[in-house]
Amino acid sequence: MPFAKITQTAHYVPDNIVSNDDLAKIMDTSDEWIYSRTGIKQRHITVDENTSDLAAKVGEQLLLQADLSADQIDFIIVATISPDSSMPSTAALVQAKIGAHRAFAYDLTAACSGFVFALSTAEKLIAGGYTRGMVIGAEVLSKSLDWSDRSTAVLFGDGAGGVLLENTGTKPLIIAEHLRTDGSRGNSLTSNHLELQPELLGRSKPVAEFIKMDGRAIFDFAVRDVPKNIQETLEKASLKPEDIDYFLLHQANSRILDKMAKKLGAERSKFLQNMQDYGNTSAASIPILLSEAVKNGKLSLDRNSKIVQTGFGGGLTWGTLIVNL
Ligand code: ACO
Repeated sequence: MPFAKITQTAHYVPDNIVSNDDLAKIMDTSDEWIYSRTGIKQRHITVDENTSDLAAKVGEQLLLQADLSADQIDFIIVATISPDSSMPSTAALVQAKIGAHRAFAYDLTAACSGFVFALSTAEKLIAGGYTRGMVIGAEVLSKSLDWSDRSTAVLFGDGAGGVLLENTGTKPLIIAEHLRTDGSRGNSLTSNHLELQPELLGRSKPVAEFIKMDGRAIFDFAVRDVPKNIQETLEKASLKPEDIDYFLLHQANSRILDKMAKKLGAERSKFLQNMQDYGNTSAASIPILLSEAVKNGKLSLDRNSKIVQTGFGGGLTWGTLIVNL
């Protein structure tokens, strides 16, 4: 059976930076409140690029780095909760933008767990016989935010990151995995609900649905269910936290990372962090973190490192992959 390997990583964020102080000018908040509760200092907010534009930039970069032409790509999966449209999918738009005519392409919706769910899926596509694919997490969450709601508007940002996956591995890419969903708790984090035909039923037209969140419930979910999930996945692989080079967790909140490290008995310094620069970019947060770590030399794609990738968010969804780089 062919083994998948991550052969390239890349990320792209829009140029426009919005600091906490900038937000304090348009809503009742402060850098002190935001930074002390979340670890976020700034976020990138797009002015004229949509989700498929950010994702296509990542796709082009992956091709350039790998010295491949677009028609050598078999599939493109884009994990996103902020697609340009329901139809065509963001992945289809990316396929056209980068000219990957041979690739089949689709979006995967699992909120902040999206990249982890997509990488798991893509690994199975490679095992099934495909040669090469792209897995991209891309979000323009700024278009789903209610800028008058300070409790959510300060948390999120726009960006994209992704990997090139090829069938050139000499060992399994994913040593162990554990993906979970609990739809019964879905109401604690919602966005873009589509109402039944209001005019036809004589109801007033509903206002657009922005991201809504029960912050406390999500915080509790993150610090209770998620470390348990990581622990169970480590046990499946007969590994201990000290066997892991780095933990790449969804970048929602630095206090969540502090609690996770404590619960797992793992060194906090092994939990990579960049939400100070980007805010919470949902499905893009883990691939941006990975791409940055490869770029700054913390991680190499050829050093036989073991990393934990854990996503958690709307659905509710959560899941861990233990990955051999
Ligand atoms: N600036 C200033 N004050 C604010 C802001 C803000 N941006 N937002 C809320 N407040 C106020 C509230 O109005 C409230 O005031 P009150 O006491 O007068 O009513 C006070 O601050 C405390 O509000 P809480 O919501 O209780 O604040 P909390 O300490 O729980 O922190 C936070 C909120 C940071 C969202 C926290 O609940 C959290 O970290 N939750 C985890 C959820 C998360 O990170 N979600 C990201 C998306 S989901 C995901 O990616 C998994």
